[in-house]
Amino acid sequence: MTAVPLGLPRRLVEFTLDGETVRAPEGSTILDACRAEGKDVPTLCQGDTLTPKNACRVCVVEVEGARTLAPACSRRAEPGMSVRTDSERTRHSRKVVLELLASSVDMSTTPGVAGWIEEYGAEPGRFGPDAARVEEDPKVDNELYVRDYGKCILCYKCVDACGEQWQNTFAIAVAGRGFDARISTEHAAPLTDSACVYCGNCIEVCPTGALSFKSEFDMRAAGTWDESAQTETTTVCAYCGVGCNVTLHVQDNDIVKVTSPHDNPVTHGNLCIKGRFGFAHVQNRD
Ligand code: SF4
Ligand code: SF4
Ligand code: FES
Repeated sequence: MTAVPLGLPRRLVEFTLDGETVRAPEGSTILDACRAEGKDVPTLCQGDTLTPKNACRVCVVEVEGARTLAPACSRRAEPGMSVRTDSERTRHSRKVVLELLASSVDMSTTPGVAGWIEEYGAEPGRFGPDAARVEEDPKVDNELYVRDYGKCILCYKCVDACGEQWQNTFAIAVAGRGFDARISTEHAAPLTDSACVYCGNCIEVCPTGALSFKSEFDMRAAGTWDESAQTETTTVCAYCGVGCNVTLHVQDNDIVKVTSPHDNPVTHGNLCIKGRFGFAHVQNRD
């Protein structure tokens, strides 16, 4: 059984959300309140285990009296505020953000984005064939995970997970400025020559599939990756005594990737190389 820390009781903040009076625990973001009310606000750079970065702006909402749209993922709910999540202005802004992102990188493996593009009437192709686009081959320099920066939206989640927010390894960072900005190891070294410890915590937070297990990358290339045919079983990692929960994703009786529940008080979704990638022996049938 997973122990869930309840924390201290919080006062409720009352405000108006799309014309309805709602209450949310003090300190909640507008996004928290939207989710509690069952409202679908798109997000990309937001991560439930990370501090908001406000990088993508796809979650913007309209706060009455504010000059600019506010990111729902970081703006806290305040008493008496009036918020609109589906106004013409928010829809237009989300449409343009989706068009800019989807015209500049490959978002074919970004969960949810195809539905948002349809919902907001985004037309990524309207900038024409000469639109600036990140075109580069995936970096396959080790047997554990692949970096395909042609799918990277520069949300910085991997950098935060690798750095001070979780792993404290600092193997990757933002290099370059403006159009040249990109995620890179030091001196663009192969991962095998970098400080990377292969915890895979960057894969866990990447919203687009730019970072993926090598097993997933190979199966997608072969056309055999099928999430609808996968089962998920959460168990306890057997490598040491910490007690990390690991969720095994299994397809055709093979473990194809390993994650960890984000609400697990031991891991918060993070693992080490053994829990994340040390599953080959389980299916070594030779
Ligand atoms: S696998 Fe871990 S150490 Fe390596 S780049 Fe990703 S977060 Fe950093
Ligand atoms: S690799 Fe993924 S997590 Fe890292 S910045 Fe790009 S999209 Fe974000
Ligand atoms: S999800 Fe809110 S700014 Fe990206």
